Amino acid sequence: MPGAEEIREAAAILRRGGLVAFPTETVYGLGANALDAEAVERIYRAKGRPHTSPLIVHVPDAEAARALAAAWPESARRLAAAFWPGPLTLVLPKAAAIPDVVTAGLLTVGLRVPAHPVAQALLREAGVPLAAPSANRFMRISPTLAVHVRRSLGDAAEMVLDGGPSEVGLESTVVSLAGETPLLLRPGAIGREQLAGAIGSPVETADSAPAGGAHASPGMHTRHYSPATPLRLIAATDPLPAGRVAWLWWRENRESAADLRLPASPEGYARSLYRSLHEADQWSVDFIAVEPPPREAAWQAVWDRLLRAQG
Ligand code: TXA
Ligand code: MG
Repeated sequence: MPGAEEIREAAAILRRGGLVAFPTETVYGLGANALDAEAVERIYRAKGRPHTSPLIVHVPDAEAARALAAAWPESARRLAAAFWPGPLTLVLPKAAAIPDVVTAGLLTVGLRVPAHPVAQALLREAGVPLAAPSANRFMRISPTLAVHVRRSLGDAAEMVLDGGPSEVGLESTVVSLAGETPLLLRPGAIGREQLAGAIGSPVETADSAPAGGAHASPGMHTRHYSPATPLRLIAATDPLPAGRVAWLWWRENRESAADLRLPASPEGYARSLYRSLHEADQWSVDFIAVEPPPREAAWQAVWDRLLRAQG
């Protein structure tokens, strides 16, 4: 874990407009001062990310989040109380202080209070909100280890803080509170039922709600989070594609050039998935074949990422 001196150095880089990669409990983020449009511009360049994809703004607590929102409905109060700090992003009408480059021109902003102690220490020391997407090249798998950040971004970040493996392993749940009813934009560790329970009313999903309007989420591309090697979901009883295949399994191993076993619990699987894909990507195989996980609600976020990775 980085010490106080390293945190101070990182905070100084951020305050003068530089980029710092830092650990969160979901994935590693590439941070810049969210109130400095030029600094935020550097994030887009480093990632090769189009300007149509909005960034999440990280703050140390709910009070700081509220200061960056133009409205704070009861649903926001309840979700913040239940799940912050933690793997949840709330999309709310944005305060004027947030530059357009952060939100891709939207009138809403994604706000998150991360739980990781290094992220917390950095946010408090920097004293500014941090815009931070996952610290990978656009369309690639998010990093869950500091070494993934360097491999993907080279020296685009002035500093990479190493906080060990990300505990959750998948990006935060994103829920929009900007429309009439709460809308789940990206599934994550905190599921729809948990959200609905905390708010006290149902949460819609993208397929159940009308498209466009206040909830628009231009960053959600179908193909996203992909390894460089083509990935295919293949039932254990179906033939593997021809060529050298890496078999990623949780229940049944089979004959293949290489294999990796993933945990059988949804939390364990989520924690290991990106790390396993990063690893398999290094094996120079023709395909990564993934044994489909169970089709239960607890696996929703895992399924979402696997289907996007398959494209
Ligand atoms: O777990 C996470 O959320 C990680 C860590 C670093 O905090 N960050 C992350 O950021 O996953 P990124 O940029 O890879 O994904 C942000 C996604 C966007 O693609 C978009 O779908 C959604 O969050 N988003 C951000 N701001 C939004 C807004 N104003 N309206 C709708 N969706 C928004
Ligand atoms: Mg990302």
